[in-house]
Amino acid sequence: MDALDALLNRVSAPRLIEPAPTEEQRQVLFRAALRAPDHAQLRPWRFLTVEGRARNELGELFASALGADTAPETIAKTLAMPLRAPLLVVVIARVQEHPKVPAQEQVLAAGCAAHGILLAAHAQGIGAVWRTGELAYNARVAKGLGLADNEQIIAYLYLGTPERELRTPHDLPVEEFVTAWP
Ligand SMILES: Cc1cc2nc3c(=O)[nH]c(=O)nc-3n(C[C@H](O)[C@H](O)[C@H](O)COP(=O)(O)O)c2cc1C
Repeated sequence: MDALDALLNRVSAPRLIEPAPTEEQRQVLFRAALRAPDHAQLRPWRFLTVEGRARNELGELFASALGADTAPETIAKTLAMPLRAPLLVVVIARVQEHPKVPAQEQVLAAGCAAHGILLAAHAQGIGAVWRTGELAYNARVAKGLGLADNEQIIAYLYLGTPERELRTPHDLPVEEFVTAWP
């Protein structure tokens, strides 16, 4: 796929089924992630893949983070969340102390890496959607996933085969967002 085609037409695919991306496709996904712009080449990111049985374990970890008074339907829904795609990639920003690169820039770089995965997925015909929600910001989940104190989850990327045809995105009017200064 042409680069501009991927950039202009990427859309999320919320309903994902088997098969998961192949090993070869995954290599492309992660190589694209690793081309994110990165001030001082800090590589402020890492990625966890979650698939198969591990998705059930992730659901259990999610459910363990819910409050004691959580409704049974919410627990059931939470347990099933990671089953919404055959492959999940947890994108983790790893912020280091640096005299010239503030934390915000490092988190942005990790966000660009996540976007690289989405674009490379779209270009390969793989469906993907970026999700977060409160379980991306939960200390128990972070601990269960083995995050260090300087790490934070910035994305749960759900990846697989789109169940339905992808929608055609409608172009936003550029002039609403772009102005010449002064
Ligand atoms: C940081 C971030 C977090 C997001 N979290 C969620 C989420 O938890 N649930 C959700 O439905 N969409 C979430 N989205 C939005 C979707 O990934 C998607 O971009 C949005 O639905 C628009 O669809 P499109 O990508 O096809 O334009 C998030 C996007 C970003 C950048």
